[in-house]
Amino acid sequence: MGGTQAIIDRNALRNNVRCIRRTIPPATRIMGVVKANCYGHSTRLCVPVLRDEGLDLFGVANVEEGRQLRQSGVEGTIVVLGPPLPGMMEAYGQHRLEALVSNARMAAQLAEATPIGASVNVHLFVDTGMARNGSHPDDAVEVLRFMRELPQLSIVGFASHFATSDEPENPFTLQQLAIFDATLRRATDAGFRFRDVHLANSGGIFNVPDSHHSVVRPGLSLYGYHPTESRQASSGLVPVMNLHTHVANVTRFPAGVSVSYGRRYFTRQETEIATLPIGYGDGLMRTLTNKLNVLIAGSRFPVVGTICMDEVMVDLGLDSGVHPGEKAVLIGAIGNHQIDAYQLANAAGTIPYEICTNISARVPRIAAD
Ligand SMILES: Cc1ncc(COP(=O)(O)O)c(C=O)c1O
Repeated sequence: MGGTQAIIDRNALRNNVRCIRRTIPPATRIMGVVKANCYGHSTRLCVPVLRDEGLDLFGVANVEEGRQLRQSGVEGTIVVLGPPLPGMMEAYGQHRLEALVSNARMAAQLAEATPIGASVNVHLFVDTGMARNGSHPDDAVEVLRFMRELPQLSIVGFASHFATSDEPENPFTLQQLAIFDATLRRATDAGFRFRDVHLANSGGIFNVPDSHHSVVRPGLSLYGYHPTESRQASSGLVPVMNLHTHVANVTRFPAGVSVSYGRRYFTRQETEIATLPIGYGDGLMRTLTNKLNVLIAGSRFPVVGTICMDEVMVDLGLDSGVHPGEKAVLIGAIGNHQIDAYQLANAAGTIPYEICTNISARVPRIAAD
């Protein structure tokens, strides 16, 4: 028992790695994207499973995440997916982190921050259509030549990132891929060779087979969600995070009683209202007010009234038989009922990435096998 918990299903994580493996060529490696605490799923619980499954290549958002991952005992390759930041460049050499470099300025600063005799592995990052980071494709070979002259840098990778790979019909994805492949060809024609060539995120992995190259970078799909909702059911992916809490209290009210702040819900008839110890302080966004359901004792009930910081209320009706202490599922399944992060995301006007990463630090992550 207990209060609110995120139950991390390690078998689901294993299943998802295997599902991704079946989708890519045998020689293509998986870079597990483990940034933002494994998209809210807990690096502590997930990374050991990923390593067990044979992953030795990880992507993090910044050098602090990289440092923590290295210090947790990960020996393999750690690539920082965000740009090297002024003032943070020493960390790459100190913790054996690999950098995505977009231009000569970044390369020069990274080299300057790295002691002579030490070496940092770098991937050229090319902007093929995100307008976020990356060199212009026309400048790619020039940046590579500049980096080759810096003894502290060792060029190991060539990378980019998709903007629309979750939209199977969007022609922009194939345009990006064509720019990527043409730029890669110019680099190899100029004599450059790369250990890792990568641009496929989950959308690329599942929707764009030609984008796999030598490394793929799944994030969302590792944690059980296909980036294209209409393809979720047939994907074989299983959500890793279940969000559970327990009924704290059940009170009977007459019709016409307002529930919670702002009086945004009124009981329609005599009914029982349960309180659950979960709220926006746990990551259950307030914009989900009056749009959320919960599974208790095999049935689905509406969460009613404004979501509070630490509590929500549930309209049970009169015949539920629900008692304090009963398990309540906000993400997960009971019997024939299932709620996944897509349902919450659609209700909140966001994406499952945000639902999962939003589950706050105060919610304990508990492993389940
Ligand atoms: C550079 C980069 N690669 C890969 C990923 C993983 O993407 P996804 O979670 O869609 O698989 C991300 C996530 O945002 C990213 O920023």
